[in-house]
Amino acid sequence: MPENIPANNTSGSSIMLKAVNLTRKFDRKVIFENVNFELTPSSATAITGRNGSGKSTLIKIIANLLIQSSGELNLFNKGEKVKKENVFKYIGFVSPYLNLYDEFTGYENLKIISDIRGSGHGNIDNVLKRVGLYNRRNDLLKIYSSGMKQRLKIAFAILHEPKIMLLDEPTSNLDLEGISVVDDIANEYKRDRILIIATNDAHERSLCGNEINLNEIKQS
Ligand SMILES: Nc1ncnc2c1ncn2[C@@H]1O[C@H](COP(=O)(O)OP(=O)(O)O)[C@@H](O)[C@H]1O
Ligand SMILES: [Mg+2]
Repeated sequence: MPENIPANNTSGSSIMLKAVNLTRKFDRKVIFENVNFELTPSSATAITGRNGSGKSTLIKIIANLLIQSSGELNLFNKGEKVKKENVFKYIGFVSPYLNLYDEFTGYENLKIISDIRGSGHGNIDNVLKRVGLYNRRNDLLKIYSSGMKQRLKIAFAILHEPKIMLLDEPTSNLDLEGISVVDDIANEYKRDRILIIATNDAHERSLCGNEINLNEIKQS
């Protein structure tokens, strides 16, 4: 096999997410220290650790929503560093911390995020069907159940078909049918993209081949 991957290989195949000695403190409290990884497409990684070990903190740093205290995190595309302001284009993120607009419908919420991202509206109906919300698309979010809101968050994350999918406890609040939507998406994304799941749930963990265990990394 040649060492160089051809540039026109399948979608997302030439990206790499690399962390070197990633450390995060809040005030003087060290949450995790010296986390190192190098992730490439066709991989699924679980971030595990007890409550408060920093799983959500680490995934927010990867999503570029929070900054590390020290160490480096870079995304490379075809060997070039992606500028921080462009990282969001590569990332889909499902998180308990994501806020949706209660005063708008499901459809309108997706339209707003598409406008912010500068992508078209052409994919919205398909995505709503995929997460099982198409029939409820014109209902205001304030009458959605927590499981329906979780499905809408998944719709947000897949709308722009990102190359890196970050899921923070994605099956929480979901019924069996909702869990199978997450499973399908996880299986699809790990095929040729980078999938990362922050979790303590055995089922979510089982979707991943690799593990970053923050209990083992945390110092002091
Ligand atoms: N904004 C913040 N300010 C201060 N401490 C925080 C903040 N966010 C998280 N923490 C603390 O960081 C630790 C890790 O939190 P978190 O990443 O949510 O853990 P996990 O997702 O593993 O349960 C916890 O002790 C939490 O209280
Ligand atoms: Mg968490």
